[in-house]
Amino acid sequence: MPDNDQYPAVLHYHDSTKHHLNRYARSPGYLDWANQPNPFRFFEASPKLRLPLMDHDSASSYARLYDKDKTQKRTIDLAAIAAFLELSMGLSAWKRYGESEWSLRMNPSSGNLHPTECTLLLPALDGRPACVAHYNPLLHCLEVRAELQARTTPPMRNPQGFGLILSSIYWREAWKYGERALRYCNLDVGHALGALRFSANLSGWGLRLHPEVGDKQLDQLLGFDRIEWPDTEEEQADCLCWVSDSKTDARAVSEWLHSLKTPQYPNAPNQLCAEHHPWPIIQDTARSTRSPGFAATRVSANQAADNADLVSELSAEQIIRSRRSAQAFDPQTSRIGLRYFRSILKQTLPNGAAPFDALPLGPDVHLALFVHEVEDMQPGMYMLVRNPDHLSALRTQLKLDFTWEPLGEDLPLYLLQAGDFRAQAERISCQQAIAGNSAFSLAMLARFEPLLRVAPWRYPRLYWEAGLIGQVLYLEAEAKGLRGTGIGCFFDDAMHELLGVKDHDWQDIYHFTVGAPVEDLRIQTKPAYHHLMAVPQNPEK
Ligand SMILES: Cc1cc2nc3c(=O)[nH]c(=O)nc-3n(C[C@H](O)[C@H](O)[C@H](O)COP(=O)(O)O)c2cc1C
Repeated sequence: MPDNDQYPAVLHYHDSTKHHLNRYARSPGYLDWANQPNPFRFFEASPKLRLPLMDHDSASSYARLYDKDKTQKRTIDLAAIAAFLELSMGLSAWKRYGESEWSLRMNPSSGNLHPTECTLLLPALDGRPACVAHYNPLLHCLEVRAELQARTTPPMRNPQGFGLILSSIYWREAWKYGERALRYCNLDVGHALGALRFSANLSGWGLRLHPEVGDKQLDQLLGFDRIEWPDTEEEQADCLCWVSDSKTDARAVSEWLHSLKTPQYPNAPNQLCAEHHPWPIIQDTARSTRSPGFAATRVSANQAADNADLVSELSAEQIIRSRRSAQAFDPQTSRIGLRYFRSILKQTLPNGAAPFDALPLGPDVHLALFVHEVEDMQPGMYMLVRNPDHLSALRTQLKLDFTWEPLGEDLPLYLLQAGDFRAQAERISCQQAIAGNSAFSLAMLARFEPLLRVAPWRYPRLYWEAGLIGQVLYLEAEAKGLRGTGIGCFFDDAMHELLGVKDHDWQDIYHFTVGAPVEDLRIQTKPAYHHLMAVPQNPEK
């Protein structure tokens, strides 16, 4: 079926998973705790490669999150890959309240349900053959699923670096959120991409999506098309990234992948829970948005990278490790200086450098901001236009009485309407106080129908871009002594009404909020890998 025939299915999914002021999108409406899917994927029978935990942080400066060129390139070996994974997809802490205990990770996830899995395509390294290995963040180990073998003799040399495939288990999110879960899974992919891109920078490595390989090929490569999944537990490949310490030749990556035999996987993944509830629209939409493979386009840079003024009391690693979602904000102290506010916004702009250099498309997402408490700034609604090519469409398609008053030359930031939007921000974000008690909150407005009518497979990719922006905001908030929270629950059309969006040219796809957190002192914290410290580690198991 030609691509654009899938657009109605995408539109149907998007519209029917909107939350409305009088009705939420379809979900179970209760939590079946006995059948909560395991947040950890195991390939129990696969050989394990234990990865070393970092014994100290390198105390890299905060600016190095964005700037790999100032970092000494680390040789790609298992110890370096271990540090890269620990600081991106690894555990960050354990939390305990009463009888409940749960882990947190470096990458955030809607509902802490973690649908995103990570698999590496490793070349021969440290005397081990090339292999496909699943990263298990609970054990901080690689589960070696299969060796990678060449079809050709002599085998083609792999390009410098290694491959990394993200995949999603929709059921983990659908268990709680029902049909809207696919959106959350894709936002989580964006956050994971951001976490990985930042972590790669700390080793002086680049990380870029390699979109030339279609999703079906990725499923084949991972054997997902040959696994008999328990009901609804199906896992789907999202994207392949290439991680390297030198410039990557995309053609060489594609040729090397084509030169490989389809791996045979002897071991099955674990079953995540006993009983399932189908949400067929999720699988149907995921099928309608599979990428056929496409060539990366040059991502237009809004302005050149300039990280000279980035300062924080925390090192890059401290920022990554301490990142958390705020549960509540103190409205009395949730205030931010103008310089910091502008600096945060600047980091969300694509500038040809990390983290947005990971994406092969865009930018297609803009920030509609509710400024509540920014020093020397009028409270009100503002727009950060992340792609200058969209400015005139935004001006003519949103409310015509918006002022569009520009706020300085160094940022494409415009005042739309002055006023106190605390109550509206809170109401639109599913009545969540965190959207109104903060210093500022925002909605991410995506170019929608004009893109998706031609290429419906870009639907998940809009969410990846939004998740990546969200990851920048999380780390930026932390660096500036504040805290952020991603907000997936919002009343879509109520936000559209506020902006004057009348059709599908633009759609709100994610919210975020930043302020001064109120800590819940009843919750206890334990170190991320305390459970591994107790057991002597055999590196071969
Ligand atoms: C895509 C996404 C949507 C989220 N939506 C909400 C939300 O609507 N309300 C909320 O309080 N937290 C929300 N969160 C925060 C998650 O609950 C949080 O990331 C998770 O509990 C893990 O905690 P951590 O971020 O501190 O590691 C969201 C996070 C993500 C990544």
